[in-house]
Amino acid sequence: MDLVCASANPDKYVEMAQILSGVANLAPRPKDIPEVLEDADNLLDNARLKAVAIRSATGCPAVADDTGLEVDALGGAPGVFSARYAGDDATYEDNVRKLLKEMKGVDGERRSARFRTVAVISWTDGTETIAEGIVEGLIAETPSGRGGFGYDSIFVPSSGSGKTFAEMEDEEKNVISHRGIAFRRLNRRLKKKNA
Ligand code: IMP
Repeated sequence: MDLVCASANPDKYVEMAQILSGVANLAPRPKDIPEVLEDADNLLDNARLKAVAIRSATGCPAVADDTGLEVDALGGAPGVFSARYAGDDATYEDNVRKLLKEMKGVDGERRSARFRTVAVISWTDGTETIAEGIVEGLIAETPSGRGGFGYDSIFVPSSGSGKTFAEMEDEEKNVISHRGIAFRRLNRRLKKKNA
């Protein structure tokens, strides 16, 4: 099965292609398609906006992922605004710095958080397949590790061995991550659809 990636984020494309491998061939998002405005107030609608836009532009089924980091001590922020937490042009480092600043004085279990991914495939007949993945964890006091992207250097998943996502090999992260869980769920639905 051939799918087009609706995410312009190359870090996400790599993970999506790894997890879908063997089930679907994932083509990168064509560079000439204008950016999609992700102005919905929830992950599902943002993922749907991207998947439908890329499916309409290419005429091929497209898959999108929208992800948020929900920090309990911050009332669920940055959540759907994770990409722009420190401002419209924020880098990954800017966002991490702002989050650590906001978390000053919050300790131990009160640093609980989760990554949530909603993945949507928009098919050419207008139907869609949706899956969600969540991983619980804690926000570290300082960044560690050089792998991954985004907030990986400060997220310690509860289902891991105490390392941040950025300290893990790709495969180790994919096995327990929000994106891994969401896309393996999609894989199972795709296999049923193909059967
Ligand atoms: P979006 O789904 O492209 O809106 O992503 C939101 C933001 O969340 C990204 O810019 C990253 O900063 C962050 N993010 C998304 N996925 C991950 C992940 O797997 N690890 C760490 N940060 C992530």
